Amino acid sequence: MGGVEDADVQKKEGVVLVIIIVLAATSLVSLFLAFSYYCYISNKVSKQAKNQKGSDNAGRNIQVVTENGLQVFTFKQLHSATNGFGKPNVIGHGGFGLVYKGVLSNGRKVAVKLMDRAGKQGEEEFEMEVELLSRLRSPYLLALIGHCSDNDRKLLVYEFMANGGLQEHLYPGGDSSGGASKLDWETRLRIALEAAKGLEYLHEQVTPPVIHRDFKSSNILLDSNFHAKVSDFGLAKVGSDKAGGHVSTRVLGTQGYVAPEYALTGHLTTKSDVYSYGVVLLELLTGRVPVDTKRPPGEGVLVSWALPRLTDREKVVQIMDPAMEGQYSMKDAVQVAAIAAMCVQSEADYRPLMADVVQSLVPLVKHHRSTSKIGSCSSFSGSKSPLGQDCGKSTS
Ligand SMILES: Nc1ncnc2c1ncn2[C@@H]1O[C@H](COP(=O)(O)OP(=O)(O)OP(=O)(O)O)[C@@H](O)[C@H]1O
Ligand SMILES: [Mg+2]
Repeated sequence: MGGVEDADVQKKEGVVLVIIIVLAATSLVSLFLAFSYYCYISNKVSKQAKNQKGSDNAGRNIQVVTENGLQVFTFKQLHSATNGFGKPNVIGHGGFGLVYKGVLSNGRKVAVKLMDRAGKQGEEEFEMEVELLSRLRSPYLLALIGHCSDNDRKLLVYEFMANGGLQEHLYPGGDSSGGASKLDWETRLRIALEAAKGLEYLHEQVTPPVIHRDFKSSNILLDSNFHAKVSDFGLAKVGSDKAGGHVSTRVLGTQGYVAPEYALTGHLTTKSDVYSYGVVLLELLTGRVPVDTKRPPGEGVLVSWALPRLTDREKVVQIMDPAMEGQYSMKDAVQVAAIAAMCVQSEADYRPLMADVVQSLVPLVKHHRSTSKIGSCSSFSGSKSPLGQDCGKSTS
């Protein structure tokens, strides 16, 4: 009996052994298969990554488009676009820092602003510019193409405006005494209209309205055909939704352009921009800078000097930029002077809306295109505009 039991036990042990061996072998095969599959997959993934890297390198300027439609550049991309931020590429220097001309790998010309950390303006402005310009689109506003934020280095990339800032063309020698401007009357009127449309868009077509806060001739940029776009929203403030509402803020802006109530109280409204616009209109009319300490007493501050003359027909002729002599009709000059006078008046509420300014300038620009350069009052079939003056009448 004991012999039969031993044989049974041995048989069972044999079966268990076989099962163990089979299970072990199956596990080994499964492990081997799993490992092979893992190797196959990881090989495939690394090949894909290699290919991706290769194509990134091929197009050095791969630009990641963010949700807000702006491109995000690496510092390296902008470094190579501007020839290593070389001196010959410098096209300007403002409160934000140096401005460089650059060419992207797709051949597009751009202006690259490199934030100067020692500059008076800073990160807040960078964020403001990016945030605002990503949602504002108008043919009369300078387009922001993208930006780069690389640790401390902040850069803004704009469309390139071949003729730079308006002030360079109004004052070729650096200030009013530096030589005659080559900008003719027709071009100046068109620039005035296009810049007005830029502000009109900010004030009246955006909700809540946007106050530029640093509107001036150097922030009006000109393309290769001298078409104008308004630039620099770094100082912009989103205005109050309420009619007549204002935003309280520390006084910024540029000397000579700041509205008196804003300078005194810090209360900022869209009418502060209208004042600054009036100063630019005066620059276009007179060819004089807003503040010129080299001028004789009483003539240093453009607004104070020009204002009493703007509403007197005889005196308007005296303040006009001599470089434009013979290019404008008296009627047009008087009318533009009247618009400027309304924009720069000290009482903010009486200043016009930018929409009124645009409406008043449109017929002048159209009229000018369809007539010869020199006209007289009597030959002009006057058009009425919101701020319009009748031919020959002095303004009030
Ligand atoms: N997009 C652009 N295309 C061509 N030139 C430009 C462009 N942006 C700026 N510039 C040039 O760089 C100059 C300096 O511009 P920037 O805006 O930095 O300073 P600013 O307008 O003089 O002063 P602020 O910093 O107060 O605006 C301009 O006057 C213009 O000549
Ligand atoms: Mg500027």
